[in-house]
Amino acid sequence: MSVEVTWYGHNCFLVSSGKHRLLLDPFLTGSPTAPVKASEVQADFILISHGHGDHVGDAIEIAQRTGATVISNYEIAEWLGKHGVKQTSGGNLGGWQAHAFGRVQATLAFHSSVLPDGANGGSPCGFVIEIDDKRLYFACDTALFSDMQLIGVKSLDLAVVPIGDFFTMGIDDAVQAIQWLKPKQALPCHYDTFPPIAQDPQKWAERVRAETATVPVVLKPGESLTFQ
Ligand code: NI
Ligand code: MN
Repeated sequence: MSVEVTWYGHNCFLVSSGKHRLLLDPFLTGSPTAPVKASEVQADFILISHGHGDHVGDAIEIAQRTGATVISNYEIAEWLGKHGVKQTSGGNLGGWQAHAFGRVQATLAFHSSVLPDGANGGSPCGFVIEIDDKRLYFACDTALFSDMQLIGVKSLDLAVVPIGDFFTMGIDDAVQAIQWLKPKQALPCHYDTFPPIAQDPQKWAERVRAETATVPVVLKPGESLTFQ
């Protein structure tokens, strides 16, 4: 069985195992780089890292259409429940949640998390996802923090880090993150969606190749990385 990770631009990814489809931070409507429409995507689970509009995105509409379970923190899960999402699973930082695909842990993220209507979006998070013997880490919106070393203690098949700067880590810190996380492969995200986060991902990839043992992969929106 193979696991496939497809980038839908910004911090939106589809993780597919063949049996299960996990959609992360489905910001598609209004995203200049989204290669698919919100009305076209399929999902069994939707993961939301924090309350900002460029992460909650189309979660409500997609959850209602597909019947997907939304995995997030407690505050966002409650908010989605009040906005018509039937199946939610709201945990908090450090907790693992077991689901049909495997399990997922909400990890630390240093960011903010107010929801689109001003409601409290709880603590922002990243995710470690265990699916089909693969271990994937999505840092999501965050500054660099040295406890990333602890996330890398158990071997990671993939780490996905923001490189856009301004709202999150930039290239320098995203290279340090890879040194600490030590994943087999790494993907950059959260860049080139809007002018303040324009970046050259090849500059990050060259430095990851030169300064770490990780293989960097730069995708275009719509492209996938497949694990055998
Ligand atoms: Ni954000
Ligand atoms: Mn963001």
